[in-house]
Amino acid sequence: MSKDVEEKIQDAIANPQNMGEMVDADAVGTVGSPDCGDMLRMWLKFTEKDGKKVIDKASFQSFGCQTAIAVASMATEMLSGKTVEEAKAMSSEDLSEPLGPLPPMKIHCGQMVEGALKEALEADNPDKAPTGDVSSPEDRPSTLMDSFHQQGPALKKGGLKIVLEEED
Ligand code: FES
Repeated sequence: MSKDVEEKIQDAIANPQNMGEMVDADAVGTVGSPDCGDMLRMWLKFTEKDGKKVIDKASFQSFGCQTAIAVASMATEMLSGKTVEEAKAMSSEDLSEPLGPLPPMKIHCGQMVEGALKEALEADNPDKAPTGDVSSPEDRPSTLMDSFHQQGPALKKGGLKIVLEEED
């Protein structure tokens, strides 16, 4: 990885933006990477501007590597004010653009962010909405930790491999 990209990632994860669950979100998308077992969830809140539906704010949670966190942090900032159509058209390269081109082994980290965004935008389609109104706790989807447990027991984070133990 180039020194420049590495420095930008370090800067981004030193002060990640929009990290955390959004309780009043209109849409949520969760993806796991088959390449590394990491997971990322993105929440979106919409508003209307000039007669168009736009993203008011976005947030994320991640059991992912530093690159995924850095891309998600920058992407959630970038998404604010975008129309749904504009957001749907954004590729992982667009979302990770502030970091510069990612090295080949980190491309899937940006793709995970794109995947969570696209899933959230799909979930906003009333025909496909898996959770409906997420404003009440009973209607909210499971936590990212729940999803992670369903996916598998091993979690890699920051170079550490953490194995979650089953409770007796
Ligand atoms: Fe898996 Fe980055 S998201 S290594």
